[in-house]
Amino acid sequence: MFDQKKIKKEFPIFSRKINGKPLVYLDNASTTQKPECVLDALTNYYSSHNANIHRGIHQLSEESTVAYEAARKRVARFIHARKSDEIIFTKNCTDAINLVAKGFASQIIGKGDEIIISAFEHHSNLVPWQELTKAKKAGLKVVPLAKDLTFDMNAYKRMLSTRTKMVCMTAQSNVLGTVLPIKKIVQEAHKVGAYVLVDGAQSVGHGKTNVQSLGCDFFAFSAHKMLGPTGVGVLYGRYDLLEKMVPVIFGGDMVTIVEQHSAQYQRPPYRFEAGTPNIADVIAFVAALDYLEKIGLDAIHAHEQKLTTYARTRFSEYSGVNIVAPPLEYSGGIVSFIVPSVHPHDVATVFNQEGVAIRSGLHCAEPLVRSLGVDALCRMSFYLYTTQEDIDRAVRALQKTRQIFCRAKT
Ligand SMILES: Cc1ncc(COP(=O)(O)O)c(C=O)c1O
Repeated sequence: MFDQKKIKKEFPIFSRKINGKPLVYLDNASTTQKPECVLDALTNYYSSHNANIHRGIHQLSEESTVAYEAARKRVARFIHARKSDEIIFTKNCTDAINLVAKGFASQIIGKGDEIIISAFEHHSNLVPWQELTKAKKAGLKVVPLAKDLTFDMNAYKRMLSTRTKMVCMTAQSNVLGTVLPIKKIVQEAHKVGAYVLVDGAQSVGHGKTNVQSLGCDFFAFSAHKMLGPTGVGVLYGRYDLLEKMVPVIFGGDMVTIVEQHSAQYQRPPYRFEAGTPNIADVIAFVAALDYLEKIGLDAIHAHEQKLTTYARTRFSEYSGVNIVAPPLEYSGGIVSFIVPSVHPHDVATVFNQEGVAIRSGLHCAEPLVRSLGVDALCRMSFYLYTTQEDIDRAVRALQKTRQIFCRAKT
């Protein structure tokens, strides 16, 4: 196990006070904080190497190109891709999913075909598929939640058919914390010849990921949800599929020969990275990946499981407080809850007064939240720097909320 208090000291933001109290940050599903090494990597890049990549002959350009391409290799190693050419840098997970929808799925889907998603999806892995299926007159099928808020494998199997061309699923719900059985989902999809895109935004920074053993065809995620900078996303794609995918953004750097009325494109992944990419943030992302692996993804996962168990136990001590979650063994490090008769935004306001940052609202998953029969939820999400004391501070904020709104004594 690792020392979360020592780790916290490596994140400058934790020296901040919010409303006079030390910051407790429980909004990690939204974005994570950044360790000093990531901030240093950014400063170092801009202070010592800054230049455009893939084009200059001068030394700084060469150094920047080498570091950018080394980042591609590092990401490939982190998720166990076969080779770095299977890694495309995008601006975020949303951008990566849209690239698959427009560049790949649009090529293989026609009238009457179907795409299957789950009821857990974030808007990022829902709206692109709504748009595509509308444009192609195809069907969008949604695997419902099982009663215990887990993935309904039987319903999924019943939906699959030779009409299914793509299956697009999140690995972990950003609202309920439910972990989906991705390996099995992929196996079932492949039986009917469908391709699988996994939205790994909530999973990849919280446990080991091996895209080869998952067997998925595409895997999308964002650097900012795993200690990295904002503005960097990753699309992993099996190379033979990337060769079939068409570019959707055109311009400099993605071309080989350009004539006045036509152009030829680079091989993947370069043909999907038109224009100047987010060089500095991609390079600084490497420091985040090194940091996560130094602590250990298994240790991070175990730590979050412990915190989730603890938070659920402490919050259930308060009558009426409703934890909206699957059975513990199906959950990642997320605890969503409702305080009866108190709007989640009011709850989050009191928590903020106590220096505790939580998320409230629809969590960019409106159909999911509304299907639970509520208009909004409160959500705590944990990470490697979260301590048991942080959860105790959240419990005190919960007590305060109940005192203010429910006239409770504790
Ligand atoms: C499950 C899931 N998918 C996709 C996204 C979109 O990530 P981004 O906003 O970085 O594109 C999020 C963000 O919260 C998410 O939780």
